[in-house]
Amino acid sequence: MNFDLTEEHLMIQESARDFALNEIAPTAVQRDKSAEFPYEIVKKMGELGFMGMMVAPEYGGAGLDTISYALAMIEISKVDASVGVIMSVNNSLVCYGLEKYGSDFIKQKYLIPLAKGEKLGAFALSEPEAGSDATKQRTMADKDENHFRLNGIKNWITNGTTADYVLVMATTNKELAHKGISTFLVEKGTPGFDHGIKEDKLGIRSSDTCSLTFENCKVPAENLIWEEGKGFNFAMNTLNGGRIGIASQAVGIAEASLDAAVKYAKERKAFGQTISNFQAIQFMLSDMAVKVDAAKMLTLKAAALKDAGKPYIKEGAMAKLYASKVAVQNALDAIQIHGGYGYVRDYLVERYLRDSKITEIYEGTSEIQKIVIARALLDSK
Ligand code: CAA
Repeated sequence: MNFDLTEEHLMIQESARDFALNEIAPTAVQRDKSAEFPYEIVKKMGELGFMGMMVAPEYGGAGLDTISYALAMIEISKVDASVGVIMSVNNSLVCYGLEKYGSDFIKQKYLIPLAKGEKLGAFALSEPEAGSDATKQRTMADKDENHFRLNGIKNWITNGTTADYVLVMATTNKELAHKGISTFLVEKGTPGFDHGIKEDKLGIRSSDTCSLTFENCKVPAENLIWEEGKGFNFAMNTLNGGRIGIASQAVGIAEASLDAAVKYAKERKAFGQTISNFQAIQFMLSDMAVKVDAAKMLTLKAAALKDAGKPYIKEGAMAKLYASKVAVQNALDAIQIHGGYGYVRDYLVERYLRDSKITEIYEGTSEIQKIVIARALLDSK
């Protein structure tokens, strides 16, 4: 087993770190307050290849592996988890699915601009009454000659108001339950397709989350992804990789909390010395560091398995389950170490806590990850 990153991995990690510190950090606090979408940052990330990292160069991507993607996601989320989720959805839920299952027409017309970051994507599976229980899709797609008519509502869609292209899961055959679900690419501006107002969220406030509505929205048949009835498999297969992206986001937040706690502990004086001299603080820092490393190893292991073409569903779910828990715990510990200063906006750690919570919810709650892990365990014994 080799724990060393390659020269290329180290280079990507460093360039993501530099970009995050120089281009994202200066506006992160302000955007958390104003909830403004980071248009300029996302544009620059596209130019640098961060929006289609794993897509082959012939389709406009950077042609890198999942480990590179995870490393970049960690560095970017460490500075701003809002930017992390925008990047994660475009890379792992949209570009990945289109490259793997899209027709050549779809790849030429939609994947290339998405991978280059010229266009932004969203992934619309959740509905008001179908969150964790994702097979219960109510959005309908009725076939009508050479197009489908979409009717329904989607909820909690990341990049919802900003995305140019949305992948929408909808039922083409109700009788077949989840085997009657299909995936469609819907362009922004298509008549009958609209979005709700941006949600006023606890964390990742600079990212854009909203509901989407489809009312007799006419989508050309050529925008069907993969084939009719494969939409649920498309969503599950795509989310398996998405979970590595969210695990990386969570590792980034957990590491940011640790770094902030170490820095503060070395500066803050109490009882005539810096608080880093106290064993109570040292024990907390040690526990935080162990958790960051363990979460990172689980995440990079899942990424390495995916790169090797080996099964990674269970490992991706384990990485997300653990890393998201660690992100919340480390943010709480960092606040505790900061005392009252941790509770106010002048220090970053309160944002880390607000940003961390969603990693236990989206792309499959922690409870769903446990179901995925348990099923894999029980199937393999
Ligand atoms: N990978 C691949 N296929 C999977 C799978 C996985 N992890 N989990 C289930 N499937 C497949 C099954 O093999 C089965 O396929 P076939 O019928 O072709 O054999 C099909 O899916 C149905 O599976 P089950 O019978 O097991 O269905 P279930 O209802 O018992 O369980 C579930 C399904 C695992 C709970 C699933 O509904 C699920 O993962 N729910 C969570 C949904 C989710 O993650 N939502 C996130 C929203 S997207 C988001 O957050 C994006 C964002 O904007 C940030």
